[in-house]
Amino acid sequence: MSGSRSVADRSRPVDGKRVVVTGAASGIGKGVATALVQGGARVVLLDRNVDAVTAVADELGATAIGCDVTDEDQVRAAMRGAAEHLGGLDGAVNNAGIVLNEPAESMSLVDFNRVIAVNLTGVFLCAREQFPFLADGGGSIVNTASMCAGIVVRPQPQVSYNASKSAVVGLTRSLAAEWADRNIRVNSVSPGYTLTELVRSPELAPQHEQWSSLTPMKRLADIDDLVGAYLFLLSDQAGFMTGQDIVIDGGYTVW
Ligand SMILES: NC(=O)c1ccc[n+]([C@@H]2O[C@H](COP(=O)([O-])OP(=O)(O)OC[C@H]3O[C@@H](n4cnc5c(N)ncnc54)[C@H](O)[C@@H]3O)[C@@H](O)[C@H]2O)c1
Repeated sequence: MSGSRSVADRSRPVDGKRVVVTGAASGIGKGVATALVQGGARVVLLDRNVDAVTAVADELGATAIGCDVTDEDQVRAAMRGAAEHLGGLDGAVNNAGIVLNEPAESMSLVDFNRVIAVNLTGVFLCAREQFPFLADGGGSIVNTASMCAGIVVRPQPQVSYNASKSAVVGLTRSLAAEWADRNIRVNSVSPGYTLTELVRSPELAPQHEQWSSLTPMKRLADIDDLVGAYLFLLSDQAGFMTGQDIVIDGGYTVW
């Protein structure tokens, strides 16, 4: 079968796509939302930090909705609001995430569950509430996992984070299998260490040098190193790709 997409489509792969992005007030989510708008997509930005996400959306000429991805009612209302605003959904980036660096033996259940609630259950809830709006015409969900899905990074302990991200990859594969016949593709992107607020905390910043030295490419990622993979997966160019994880880590996981 010959392809029917025009050259123009290929050069602007997300042009006209209607996409919701979570964790869009900062870091990777903000970077992906920005690249989407620059590429001609129509975007609704979600974040629990309402002031920050509104400021980003204002900068981009896009729309923001305050939403804590751990709150079922908020997620349902936010996905409905986003789809109504955009007149439907073609894609979603489920990206909100947190990290807590505590040794397993002294980590409280409350803290462990907090990380799982945002990083894993939040992705499930968002995807489930996106489904009805994607199911009409098909679409693409991209979840942010991490290179920590497949390895244990060092030296900082982060048992809950690593567990949550391994599970995001499993969740992604399961959703991909369940929803393939609705033409909803579900993939993940697994970044290596990336220079965002998440890793700029006072506890983690001193470790950047060691992390770089453990990375074959001897540096941390910039957000711009990642956005192309998200745009590709959201686009029709990835139209036969589902259930996969794209690792972007400067080679960290090959050593
Ligand atoms: N920075 C890295 O090195 C790195 C590496 C691999 C994966 N990741 C993943 O990338 C994603 C984005 O992280 P980042 O580095 O951009 O961090 P970030 O802290 O800059 O951004 C995370 C955003 O998520 C939002 N958020 C947190 N909890 C939320 C909730 N309950 N509901 C809604 N929004 C919430 C925050 O307000 C923030 O705007 C996360 O899933 C993270 O685990 C980051």
